Amino acid sequence: MLNINELLNFVNAELKEISFDQEPVKLYEPIKYSLDMGGKRIRPILCLMATQLFNGDVKNSLPPALALEVFHNFTLLHDDIMDNADVRRNQPAVHKKWNANTAILSGDAMLIKAYQFLSDCEDSVLPEIFALFNELAIGVCEGQQYDMDFEIRRDVTTNEYLEMIRLKTAILLAGSLKVGAILANAPKEDANNIYNFGLNIGLAFQLQDDYLDCFGDIKTFGKKIGGDIIANKKTFLLLSAWAKADKDETQELNKWISAEEFDADKKITAVKNLYTKLKVDELSKQKMEEYYSKAMDSLSNIDIHNNAKQELISFAKNLMHRSN
Ligand code: IPE
Ligand code: IPE
Ligand code: MG
Ligand code: MG
Ligand code: MG
Repeated sequence: MLNINELLNFVNAELKEISFDQEPVKLYEPIKYSLDMGGKRIRPILCLMATQLFNGDVKNSLPPALALEVFHNFTLLHDDIMDNADVRRNQPAVHKKWNANTAILSGDAMLIKAYQFLSDCEDSVLPEIFALFNELAIGVCEGQQYDMDFEIRRDVTTNEYLEMIRLKTAILLAGSLKVGAILANAPKEDANNIYNFGLNIGLAFQLQDDYLDCFGDIKTFGKKIGGDIIANKKTFLLLSAWAKADKDETQELNKWISAEEFDADKKITAVKNLYTKLKVDELSKQKMEEYYSKAMDSLSNIDIHNNAKQELISFAKNLMHRSN
């Protein structure tokens, strides 16, 4: 069995093997840049961990693991254009280092590359893996559209927010685990249990991402702090603040949300102060804990007791307390 670190090294080594020294340079160079600039490699690691949990061979799961990471990085290229985000993993986002057209087209090519990797799965499981991957990929697009729609809405409910993050983030983590389980021939019920584990970890993961976007440290987080506030993202923090605010606080919050011209740093500081005053940071941490414990329930439904399961629990725990 490979531990977390060994899995990370394995994934990184395999990603390095992919050659992008091809023409046209301006199509392939940004892909190489994106895949070389680090990242936690959560999705491929989850995929391989699920395979190990069900006593499969990680080598069989390598093609979909790479597909998942390349697909994820594709979404980031487009997401940074949509979110107007200039920094990713402490470096200029692709649309900044090159331009938006480059990020669109290199992103498109990455999506296709992801499917090329996926098609290297064993024939016997290919139809099932394709169907699952398609479901995840279209779900991410749906989630991303809701995320955009919500920027200009004021009446987003917590349930709508949760559905949005389920689609844009959680299902890909859940699906990564399920793909790994399918490749290890896990029983259907266990493949679904591991999916539900991942879904809840994924919800907690996006809550943490939204928390760090506001309260994190740029040096470790690698993305601009306050980006969600500037874009009026309907995060759990904002929705909870609205729910808890008194009349004056609501007015202050709404003043910043509707401001067309504003000093970005002032808006970030003001909204952040309201969040702390209303203690929505604590609420968000509580919500994360709720999903973490739901995830653990799903995992305990799987009647396997091996080191791989312990390793998966450690990995999930680390994700809850991450700063990057
Ligand atoms: C960023 O994902 C996008 C979200 C779903 C929050 P990660 O936090 O996994 O990004 P990297 O790949 O580690 O940079
Ligand atoms: C992104 O959510 C989810 C996807 C990329 C599909 P965010 O927009 O919060 O991700 P970051 O914070 O830019 O990484
Ligand atoms: Mg973003
Ligand atoms: Mg986004
Ligand atoms: Mg974010």
